[in-house]
Amino acid sequence: MTSDGRFRIGLLGHGTVGAAFAELLPEHAERIFVLTGLRPELSGVLTRRSGSFDELLERSDLIVELIGGIEPARDYVLRALRTGRHVVTANKQLLSQHGEELWETARSEGVQLRFEGAVAGVVPVIRVLQESLAGARIDRVHGIVNGTTNFILTEMARTGMTFEDALAEAQRLGYAEADPAEDVNGRDAAAKMAILARLAFDTPVHLDQVRYEGIEQIKPDDLEYARELGLGLKLIGTAERIGDGISVRVHPAFLYPGHPLASVNGPFNAVTVESPAITEITMSGPGAGGPQTASAVLGDVISAMIPPASTPPTMSVLEIVQDVVSAFYIHLEVADEPGVLAAVAHVLAQQDVSVKSVVQRGLGDQARLVMVVHAVPESRFAAALEQIAGLEVLRAPPRAIRVLEEEFG
Ligand SMILES: NC(=O)c1ccc[n+]([C@@H]2O[C@H](COP(=O)([O-])OP(=O)(O)OC[C@H]3O[C@@H](n4cnc5c(N)ncnc54)[C@H](OP(=O)(O)O)[C@@H]3O)[C@@H](O)[C@H]2O)c1
Repeated sequence: MTSDGRFRIGLLGHGTVGAAFAELLPEHAERIFVLTGLRPELSGVLTRRSGSFDELLERSDLIVELIGGIEPARDYVLRALRTGRHVVTANKQLLSQHGEELWETARSEGVQLRFEGAVAGVVPVIRVLQESLAGARIDRVHGIVNGTTNFILTEMARTGMTFEDALAEAQRLGYAEADPAEDVNGRDAAAKMAILARLAFDTPVHLDQVRYEGIEQIKPDDLEYARELGLGLKLIGTAERIGDGISVRVHPAFLYPGHPLASVNGPFNAVTVESPAITEITMSGPGAGGPQTASAVLGDVISAMIPPASTPPTMSVLEIVQDVVSAFYIHLEVADEPGVLAAVAHVLAQQDVSVKSVVQRGLGDQARLVMVVHAVPESRFAAALEQIAGLEVLRAPPRAIRVLEEEFG
């Protein structure tokens, strides 16, 4: 900071979030001065077309990185930290792939690296994990951390439209990017879950260690039949302790109405944290958007002006568990003839998979068999499903989606 109490902020990126941040900062400058005794001001803006990073760094006390992607964002963040600047970023791809290097650099340089905007937009989940729940042992985090896919699934359930039509609607309303690949294939949510798992369990988690599935394969009738079984579909991120290891994954999952995430609709995000000390807490709100994310970024800037907060070093390297236990919904198109249900039940029984509920419909010479099975190791379910796929009575490949069985309250 300068001797006259000015606190100079170098802004990297002037897109959706960067432009909103540049607009928000002067609106709050006076209040921040009252809070901190420092007057924040933009020292410059770097975009692809204008500005020099070296010059901007030279005249900044703190760098806000809103470029996105890996390079040059990683290089800029590292250089800012190494020269003693605090950094605020909303870049989940960077943190989920290079977080350890960046957090270690921030720790060794004694500066802050804050990233509330990187997960669930303005929902204050990072701060809650890092600070409010620092005294609780966290067992599990569930999240709806991608607003685009939650909007699409909500629309498919509400109107019966196809995935493709719901995606087009999301793009029309500005809830989906022109290239929505990383949203709909689950990778964006996987990056966010890697960050949440790192904070929840104090263990390094890289994006490559997160298994993810997207929602491209979901059919409108999956949602229709599931509704009869009392289920609603979400793209769910899970980070949980299993024995001495952890599992971090993202996939579509059905929820019963009592689950706190079941009522999160449209482009909203929500995260539940489970711990023996607190039972369960849920935080929800807008997961993206320029002004919303910019307010999370500004909150981080203000916190960085009032030290201290840092991501603790990793405590141990926990095993990543591959074969987790899940309940499943199964959708089968079968021949409408006697003995079909018995044949399917026989295969499930062989793998020790027990059925919780069934809906059966006749459709001419075909029938539709939709069932929910109790939780089993996923490898055993996969073996059963493979055998079912080989049954002669099947008229189409079987479809399966996980079900979260918890209902709180
Ligand atoms: N959009 C959201 O709702 C949202 C929500 C949460 C988190 N985030 C995260 O926030 C970050 C920014 O997202 P955004 O939506 O604001 O992105 P954006 O609209 O695409 O803007 C990116 C900005 O960065 C600049 N830029 C890109 N590459 C650059 C380079 N090599 N050198 C210098 N400047 C470069 C661009 O410059 P030009 O103007 O010259 O192209 C543009 O101003 C990302 O990490 C994103 O994941 C976004």
